[in-house]
Amino acid sequence: MDNSQKISKKLRLGVNIDHVATVRNARGSIYPQPILAAEICEKAGADGITAHLREDRRHIIDADIDLICKRIKIPLNLEMAPTAEMQNIALRSLPNAVCLVPEKREEKTTEGGLEVASQIKFLTEYIRPLRDKGCKVSLFVNAEKTQIESAAAVGATTIELHTGAYCDLYYDSDPQGSSEELSRLRQMAFYAESIGLEVHAGHGLTLDTVEEIAAIPEIEELNIGHAIISEAIFVGLSKSINDIRKIMELGRYKNLQNEVLK
Ligand code: PXP
Repeated sequence: MDNSQKISKKLRLGVNIDHVATVRNARGSIYPQPILAAEICEKAGADGITAHLREDRRHIIDADIDLICKRIKIPLNLEMAPTAEMQNIALRSLPNAVCLVPEKREEKTTEGGLEVASQIKFLTEYIRPLRDKGCKVSLFVNAEKTQIESAAAVGATTIELHTGAYCDLYYDSDPQGSSEELSRLRQMAFYAESIGLEVHAGHGLTLDTVEEIAAIPEIEELNIGHAIISEAIFVGLSKSINDIRKIMELGRYKNLQNEVLK
């Protein structure tokens, strides 16, 4: 396939809804509900829902995954650490895709790519039952040839290239660093596709950084969360204020009517 054929394929958007759950859990309340966010994403034309079920359940919880599987028709990409507990959950809930990520409790977000090259045997055995059940398996990796070669060797269908370093360098105002990282991402996307892997990318992408990544012809899917959920606050804040004010005024008006009718 030449570049123009690759670029004319639709670039899919998976919306990561973890931080809807972060807001819910910070307050210990029942809202905002990730399932409602997933339904809005589906209606708004998202191509998939991405959710990271962390070992410490700091945002998405098991019940969110169950609801998404039950009520959402677009594909679910379940991000998870390669642990026995997560494998059992994935085999039970059977998402369309599983994305294996490294996980450290103390990190704020997934810091680096998965170390695949040194875990060939473990990951091969880990991935097999998921593939046997029909799940696509993606490995979240840095733009490094050894990790990508290893992803193909362990039986992954897909890699997701970690775009966090590119985005950090962009916001650090390091044009040379960010352009070097961008060129690594381009080369590694090309290489991964040439060895038969589907190529996705994500992490840290924003309105400022997504354009260059979207232009890479081999990338078929972007997974974006924090920036979309953050932007939604500003896009929706005026409406949210107007909605609550209308109900405040209704409450006052009804009570005024009661007083007048007394
Ligand atoms: N892709 C992977 C594998 C991730 O771990 C994350 C964060 O959970 C994302 C994409 C989305 O990153 P962000 O929230 O920064 O857009």
